[in-house]
Amino acid sequence: MKVNIIKKKFNPKANLKDYEKEYKDFDINLFKAEIKCFPDGKTNAAYLATDIHLKGPNKNKIALYWEGENGQELKYSFLELSEASSKTGNLLKNIGVEKGDRVFIFLPRIPELFISFLGILKIGAIAGTLFAAFGPQALEDRLKNSGAKVLITHPDFYSRVKKILPQLKNLEKIILIDEKNRVNFLEEKNLEKSPKIDNCQFYYSLMEKASSKLKVSHMNLTDPAFMLYTSGTTGKPKGVVHHHQAILHEKISAKYVLDIKDNDVYWCTADPGWVTGIAYEILGTWALGASTLVYQGRFNPEKWYSLIEEYKVNVWYTAPTAIRMLAASGLDLVKKFDLTSLRHLASVGEPLNPESVLWGIKAFNLPFHDNYWQTETGGIVIANYPNLDIKAGSMGKPMLGIKAAIVDKKGKKLKPNKEGALVLKPGWSSMMKKIWRRPEKYQSYFKNNWYITGDRAYKDKDNYFWFVGRADDVIKTAGERVGPFEVESALVSHPKIIEAGVIGKPDKMRGEIIKAFVTLKKGVKPTKTLVEDIKNYVKKHLAGHAYPREIEFRDKLPKTRSGKIVRRLLKAQELGLPIGDTSTLEDY
Ligand code: WT7
Repeated sequence: MKVNIIKKKFNPKANLKDYEKEYKDFDINLFKAEIKCFPDGKTNAAYLATDIHLKGPNKNKIALYWEGENGQELKYSFLELSEASSKTGNLLKNIGVEKGDRVFIFLPRIPELFISFLGILKIGAIAGTLFAAFGPQALEDRLKNSGAKVLITHPDFYSRVKKILPQLKNLEKIILIDEKNRVNFLEEKNLEKSPKIDNCQFYYSLMEKASSKLKVSHMNLTDPAFMLYTSGTTGKPKGVVHHHQAILHEKISAKYVLDIKDNDVYWCTADPGWVTGIAYEILGTWALGASTLVYQGRFNPEKWYSLIEEYKVNVWYTAPTAIRMLAASGLDLVKKFDLTSLRHLASVGEPLNPESVLWGIKAFNLPFHDNYWQTETGGIVIANYPNLDIKAGSMGKPMLGIKAAIVDKKGKKLKPNKEGALVLKPGWSSMMKKIWRRPEKYQSYFKNNWYITGDRAYKDKDNYFWFVGRADDVIKTAGERVGPFEVESALVSHPKIIEAGVIGKPDKMRGEIIKAFVTLKKGVKPTKTLVEDIKNYVKKHLAGHAYPREIEFRDKLPKTRSGKIVRRLLKAQELGLPIGDTSTLEDY
């Protein structure tokens, strides 16, 4: 295979001057003092992302540029962000939230999402975020397992929550964001009265009564700060818990991988419902004092370019599917905008194909820098860097402080160019702390003194890592991680379906799409209308983004003798690949 190498001219202004040297010399202990931000040696990640700036020149600098989906614009300085999040912390204390309680956020990308996240951390509670496209089933799984005590959501989302309330025995309070009062509140005007919705309380009415003077909780470095649910091959999504010291790795990686500098305007297109939005839209990047742009609206090439132009974005962190969609919308569109503010481009979440790296050069005169990590790693672990040549299609080299290797089943390191399991040496600061209420699941990530990523890869002789694929059935569609089991469960709850097997099918644009194979109840006709009906059913019950774009009806599905559907075989059949050993299967 011919590898396209993008040679870099030395840039003396980049944060990382010499990767090889700095990788070798890196010592995390030299940074530890930074996060022990209180005199007693304790820490708080939200303090490090906001309040810490009040003592320095960033106090009145814009922390958050926000643009709503209808074009509304707002700005919050670090001071304003700090005060608003402290107020939210007090608000939560006033309604009975204590250290260690789980407070979940189910919101569109509005300023209150960011403010609440920080407020929750400031009082030592654990923040959980829920992606806006989740349906009742996805919400129930997460809120029930976490035992969330408080949910912060939006009136438009409440109908999805209401359906599952009887199942949520631990949920004591629901706070709704009364968006129409945001500006009234900011301008210290009287609030409009909100209509009564069940027993819910309204955010800004509570904010009015809350003080902005908060004694931020002093936390141990390894106290839990936030949690995110993510999917595996089987079973319900698992709650990945991260601790306050995660911010250390997130800050260092934001500095050296994303090349964030003090005066940058930075735009990360991810949603805080996923880990990227937390690590590199809230914690790591605000710890560096960058001004962050948040756009509430959906993907739209023209709008995206106009945002870069209007806000003079310097560093842009996005995802392969978006890059491919932008490329498909053509170079002519790019040329209509002045995008010369851009200095560094990065991408994450799924394999970035070499054409996309190179398209960056054509469109913006800058390559996209791919980097790799996972919800569980809490921050970037393999990356391409400003002053390091890019081998287009490679994920790059291990991040400072991270030891990565390719090993065989016994944990033995493999030679260059040999495919194996991608593993990491445990111990970096943003490595997950536990899987909520499932200690055995947590333990299953560690073998032979390695953290097992679940991905297959190889490294070449220059120590560049190349992604091969997942070792399991987890699906990555448009960068989002979807567990086939969750989709299958949603499918079989459809009244006309008996069984379902779900796979990721390669797709040029989205990386993979979800494809479902289903068997129908006796007498049910496999019509086009039924296909649409099933898609809508999954969208509505599970999640808007996790529905099968393709559905195939089968008379029966391949199963093991113990009755488990064999996705591996469905996938092999779909892709026309050899089907392998079928001796343990029923009827094959
Ligand atoms: C899985 C993790 C990265 C934070 C958001 C996603 C895949 C991630 C890459 C990449 C190829 C990648 C892996 C990984 N993945 N980045 N640069 N190249 N694959 O976190 O939802 O937990 O997904 O995404 O399969 O295990 P996540």
